[in-house]
Amino acid sequence: MTWLQCIEEECLARYPIDRRMYTCAACGGLLDVAYEFKLPAGASDMKALFTERKITGSPVDKSGVWRFRELLPFVDDLSRVVTLAEGNTPLYDGARSARYGGLRSLLFKHQGMNPTGSFKDNGMTTGVTQARVLEATAVACASTGNTSASMAAYAARADIRAFVFIPAGQVAYGKLSQSLEYGASVVEIEGNFDDAMRLVRELAEEAGLYLLNSINPFRLEGQKAIVIELMEQLDWRAPDWIVLPGGNLGNVSAFGKALHELEKLGFIDRLPRLAVIQAEGAAPFYELVATVAQSELRPFPDPATLATAIKIGNPVSWKKALRAIKCTDGIVERVSEQEIADAKAVIGSDGIGCEPASAATLAGIRKLIASGQLDSDETVVAVLTGNLMKDPAYTVGYHMNELALEKQGGRIAIEGRFRNRPARVAADKQQILDLLAQ
Ligand code: F0G
Repeated sequence: MTWLQCIEEECLARYPIDRRMYTCAACGGLLDVAYEFKLPAGASDMKALFTERKITGSPVDKSGVWRFRELLPFVDDLSRVVTLAEGNTPLYDGARSARYGGLRSLLFKHQGMNPTGSFKDNGMTTGVTQARVLEATAVACASTGNTSASMAAYAARADIRAFVFIPAGQVAYGKLSQSLEYGASVVEIEGNFDDAMRLVRELAEEAGLYLLNSINPFRLEGQKAIVIELMEQLDWRAPDWIVLPGGNLGNVSAFGKALHELEKLGFIDRLPRLAVIQAEGAAPFYELVATVAQSELRPFPDPATLATAIKIGNPVSWKKALRAIKCTDGIVERVSEQEIADAKAVIGSDGIGCEPASAATLAGIRKLIASGQLDSDETVVAVLTGNLMKDPAYTVGYHMNELALEKQGGRIAIEGRFRNRPARVAADKQQILDLLAQ
């Protein structure tokens, strides 16, 4: 049995899953997809089955989301599934990054290796599948760029119209180009992400659009698979920590739900701790968790960071995220623009690379080691949420030593401490030889 359930303890209202709703009709709370799990076999047989599916010929089995379908069993008819063979992303070790962070070793779960280059694909395969099941003719989202790129691709596959609302001039070109290419209708809002989010929530109702932001609980069901697959890669032994960047806070919410369910169903015997890292200029969740009461999130009216993916001042999923932090004894840290930029270059120097928001993880790890909240011997997995190629302007700016954040009240110049500037010479062999000899 599957139903939607309000997360508010004093409400817990239930609704059928074919209702097009994103928040509780009774109290306005966020909704979970809730299950009475009926696994066809015990945990160890299920683990073997999940792994075997990777080598079958079936598209749903090849998906790193749907091969775990018994853990997100909301679709009865698998022929409805919209998939681009998402997930199955690599786990890399990063020796230089580990050293920089102050750890003995460090693993990166690279979600940037997804079909559209970010972890959003894990959630969009489930979100767009649910849109198809509900026979939606148009889907919509507000986005800092990756959600929109992913939604545009999956909606194109499903032949559903896509409407994307983005903050004008604040989306990296790698991402904007994807939404355009996949054929979405792109609306640039003269405002920030939070304005776009508020408007699209109002519009969804009036304009008959099916909303695919992470407030849609079916998105988060797919994102649970990031953690499930990670556990599989670690032979179902939980690490001490999973570190991830926080923006709208959907991903940490999905991770918390996945871990709770995996433990309850006997797939893992202990919970890793979650560490969420925010950019200093967009850190309302950090501030919330630092308060004693942790009762009300105070939005940042003017969020500012060059990690535009997480430039969010009023995250919609903060209550679910708080639940995840409490359930896993997690922590929240914030990092500066300089720290993010340097960490990104170090991750690049491991031959891995990522987009700026993802590098907040390593910057956060370094800070948590320095403050003694993390221990150098602990096992740590950092989730790289987006691909290096998403935001080339940032990377080139850093290496040219030209990166700066312009914001109200001033300019923060970033020093390319690990920069790797190109050299320019005349088209002349001797000059090149002279350069190589230096
Ligand atoms: N990293 C990247 C690369 C992202 O694109 C996002 C969110 C996050 C981290 C934060 O994840 O919102 O679940 O806490 N991007 C959204 C978007 C907001 O519109 O693409 P979160």
